[in-house]
Amino acid sequence: MTDSLASGPVVARISRDALRHNARLLARLGSPARLMAVVKADGYGHGAVEVARTLEADGVGAFAVAHTSEAAALRAAGVSGTILVFGQPFEDDLAAASTLDLDVMAGSLEAVRRIEVAARIGAPLRVHAKVETGLNRLGLDPAEVPEALRRLREAPGVTVAGLWSHLATSDAFADVQADALAAFDGLAPDVPRHLTASGPLVDGHGVRIDPRGFVRCGIALYGLAPDGNPATPARVGLRPALALESRVVRLRTLAPGETVSYGRRFVASQPTRIATVSVGYADGLPRLLSNRGWMGIDGQRAPISGVVCMDMTMLDLGDPAGPMAASVREGDRVAAMGPGGPSLEEVAAWAETIPYEIATGLGNRVPRVYVD
Ligand SMILES: Cc1ncc(COP(=O)(O)O)c(C=O)c1O
Repeated sequence: MTDSLASGPVVARISRDALRHNARLLARLGSPARLMAVVKADGYGHGAVEVARTLEADGVGAFAVAHTSEAAALRAAGVSGTILVFGQPFEDDLAAASTLDLDVMAGSLEAVRRIEVAARIGAPLRVHAKVETGLNRLGLDPAEVPEALRRLREAPGVTVAGLWSHLATSDAFADVQADALAAFDGLAPDVPRHLTASGPLVDGHGVRIDPRGFVRCGIALYGLAPDGNPATPARVGLRPALALESRVVRLRTLAPGETVSYGRRFVASQPTRIATVSVGYADGLPRLLSNRGWMGIDGQRAPISGVVCMDMTMLDLGDPAGPMAASVREGDRVAAMGPGGPSLEEVAAWAETIPYEIATGLGNRVPRVYVD
């Protein structure tokens, strides 16, 4: 990253220290199972390659993505640990899995059949059979599991590397799902289990640690709250890794009755200093923050005024003679999200969504700058 991009109009600063800290914390919570760092969706917006490289250098040995293309990008970048692809594999995925040494899942008997065919052509495959225990999204029905395991075990070149499921909640239903997976303990005592993601690990429900298995953590790895509660990261000792930073590109004073942004939805009721900031919904700042929420500027909170535009957002600095208006200059840095500004959890609440969507929604054009 060149210096000019690092100080450009909008930048996501990502702390490698925070990533390492969070990974070590989660590894401790999940011990003796191993941490599988979930880096799908470009590392929840944080940059999958950099996140995986940083964590692999710090001793994390397993990663997960949703699509084969994401796994291929990690291998191309030199990531050498286990990479599990969460998505249902088709023929092309299986061919790539054997070439790129990826772990695949089997989430239906149809997928088991495709794996048998791929293995017959000589491709060695490590397979994690996924069991449907309550999310009702992607997985073998429990009644199909004995047949799936038998066929996978008999398929030449196939290693059954895991039996796993995914939780629908982190409340008491997680225990119900954990029990449903544990029902196969007798049938497959030799196969490692994995079930637990960030939420259960952080708040305790459904945590069943198989010492040979994994805990698959995404959101908490990035220091964000699985339950969306802004207080959760500090409560459990997680550090937010990402700060979205922008700059003031224009300052002007409005007379009473003048309006701000498209649709004229902010009307100045008194003389008001307005800062235009170069971050908008194309950068991942939700448009639902229009006339809602604030950003951090010069250690103070400046409310968003008017609708969020594609590339710019306006902030209300208040009375032109007041302390905030007096201190802010064109070029000043603005904390749009993360440390110094509202947390991603707060932004998510304003936008009526979850921190996962805010993080993964960060715009492609926003340079990611990694700091130690
Ligand atoms: C199958 C699977 N496991 C684990 C995770 C990680 O979940 P979290 O980000 O809540 O830790 C995900 C994320 O959606 C997932 O799809």
